Amino acid sequence: MSHLLPLSRVAKLVGQSRHVLQDMIRSGALATFDGMIQLDELLRAFPDVKWDDDAELRRVSEIKDKAFAKRVRELALPDKDVLTARLNELGNDYAAARALLLHYGNVMTWLDEKIDELDEGASAETHHALHSVRAFLLRNLAEMPSNAAQAQAVIVQERMLKIMSAHVTIVPSGHEFFVEGNETLLDAALRHGVSLNYGCSNGNCGDCKARLVSGEVKQVHAHDYVLSPADKASGVMLLCSYAPVNDVVVEANVAGARDIPLQQLTAKVKSVEIFNPQMAALHILVPRSQRLRFLGGQSIQVGINGVSGRYAIASCPCEDRHIEVQVARQAGDAFADALFTADLAHAPVSIEGPYGELVLDEDSPRPLIFLAFGSGFAPIKSLIQHAMSLELAESMDLHWLADSAGHYQDNLCRAWADALDNFNYVPHPPTDDLDGLLRTIVLDYPDLHRFDVYAAGTTAQLESAYGNFVREGLHGARWFPRVEAD
Ligand code: FES
Repeated sequence: MSHLLPLSRVAKLVGQSRHVLQDMIRSGALATFDGMIQLDELLRAFPDVKWDDDAELRRVSEIKDKAFAKRVRELALPDKDVLTARLNELGNDYAAARALLLHYGNVMTWLDEKIDELDEGASAETHHALHSVRAFLLRNLAEMPSNAAQAQAVIVQERMLKIMSAHVTIVPSGHEFFVEGNETLLDAALRHGVSLNYGCSNGNCGDCKARLVSGEVKQVHAHDYVLSPADKASGVMLLCSYAPVNDVVVEANVAGARDIPLQQLTAKVKSVEIFNPQMAALHILVPRSQRLRFLGGQSIQVGINGVSGRYAIASCPCEDRHIEVQVARQAGDAFADALFTADLAHAPVSIEGPYGELVLDEDSPRPLIFLAFGSGFAPIKSLIQHAMSLELAESMDLHWLADSAGHYQDNLCRAWADALDNFNYVPHPPTDDLDGLLRTIVLDYPDLHRFDVYAAGTTAQLESAYGNFVREGLHGARWFPRVEAD
């Protein structure tokens, strides 16, 4: 039987996103068999990939790591029980393959004997035919297929991926991600921006209960929450305490903005990053035992040393314990003043939130346009990183229409564009003719009806953008505005 590989694992092997592969499938450039890719087809479609060298995989992941410098990546080995189970499974695969090979060897011996038997007393014509069959079999057994070395290299890499990671499909939402290193199912879901329900994240509350539909999981962290016998019998487990042994399907609810409760917690300042005299970022580290649940595009109320303010979150929900807010220095904003002038290193930060319901429409496969007006870049940055981690959209275009603070994270946006084939970055300098600029931008999109547009700016900026985009064909319901302070 031909070796079949799931699409997500092929994407990892060839260092491409699933969207690129799905485009190839749609255009007929890559054939699938029951939703899987055959090994021969993989070798045919990607003749230039060096399978015996993972340099390409490393190059892509290095670029991505650089682009998402703040993302936490677990490089540790899987939990020892999980590793043992995976190695055991690999051993079983090996044993089955070896048994099959032995069986084929026996069949060949039997065939050889049968040919000898039939040859006895056979006519010259039959003797010739039997001789040809034997020669054909021996020649083909002796000759390795021309792509045998490549096929072997692919299988070795795929097996390594299977030892180091397991693929997870969440139903009914259809989200997919890999659990790597010693992550739990919950850790991996959050790292990929999949907003599954959870509470304490350490086995006490039971909020992360989910049902294993297929595959095998192992408990990797102890939990105080007691699963009932009925739970256990129906495959219910705690996402924060279990890791997959092999590829699994899990039934769990993905939370929307309204499902996430208002939370209050105390964290501490990790660092303050001054971009320029007008813009700064506050980086916050939340406690391991009390992470903040939020979605890209939401806001939080932050308070330090008696001053506070509500700001858009600029980081991705996939960034584990790190939260970033960006603050513009404005007259009368005591919180901004403190950020620009005081030494806040390690200061306690009170956090309340999240607020706001403008989040990604995860059910939409449409291409995305992001419009960031000035410091409206902060929520747009969070939305973009969230969309990247979910591998949601077929393409993403960021138009950053700067104000006097400029494109203060220009390098980051360029790194995204370098790292991702489906991401375009267009910086626009400050202008007195905003309407004229927006008219020029929409001219680049003759098929605006296909897009979702997320925009963050002042009311006037958003009204101008809405008018231009809808006039040129954007569906009003696919316009997702977020008003920043006017
Ligand atoms: S999140 Fe509380 S038990 Fe898993």
